[in-house]
Amino acid sequence: MKEIYDSSVRTDTYKLQVNDILRELALKQRRKGKAVILDSDKLVTRNILLSAGYKICNINIPNPFSYKSIRKIHARTYELLLGDYLDKVKRKPFTFAFFDYCGGLNGNNIVKPKEDIAKYFKNHNATDESIFAITVSIRQSSDKGVCSSITNLHSTVTISAFNAGYTAVLLPIGYCYHGMFFAIYKIYEK
Ligand SMILES: C[S@@+](CC[C@H](N)C(=O)[O-])C[C@H]1O[C@@H](n2cnc3c(N)ncnc32)[C@H](O)[C@@H]1O
Repeated sequence: MKEIYDSSVRTDTYKLQVNDILRELALKQRRKGKAVILDSDKLVTRNILLSAGYKICNINIPNPFSYKSIRKIHARTYELLLGDYLDKVKRKPFTFAFFDYCGGLNGNNIVKPKEDIAKYFKNHNATDESIFAITVSIRQSSDKGVCSSITNLHSTVTISAFNAGYTAVLLPIGYCYHGMFFAIYKIYEK
């Protein structure tokens, strides 16, 4: 599958700030943390988790687009879309998830964010007090506007979590940058 993400974005101030925020949260989980992340061949998020104390063997990266280049550096890389990876691991517990999409919540014929989110909670991958972070593009917002896209994201996460027996609490530290919207939730088992 062809990569569409421009990983030179790693030098983007906002992208680095996003990862700094995640590092602060991951620091609380340290060596017992287990993560599933969307990362690029620059492995910015993986390196942030390592610097926060995560063990390398506990960081899982599904990515069929940049599989070969990521796999050369990181063993726990899978040539699978996120949704297919979640099907494969079933109820594997994660303390940290970063669904860092390049496109909108509605996805396309390959990437299916809404299905991935629903699957993550339905499969009970989220552990109690885990972190669920997500970025989606709001550039091609619906004719109802940007606020509607953000509400749609929040609703998708909270309803998917609720239906699976979780409470997803939106943390006050996400933001918008360059047409992307970044949100972080703390997930509690009800
Ligand atoms: C936005 S980049 C990750 C950037 C990284 N987290 C950072 O902060 O620098 C997302 C990566 O995941 C890949 N990707 C996007 N959707 C995916 C999906 N559903 N399954 C697997 N990989 C996906 C993209 O092609 C890209 O390589």
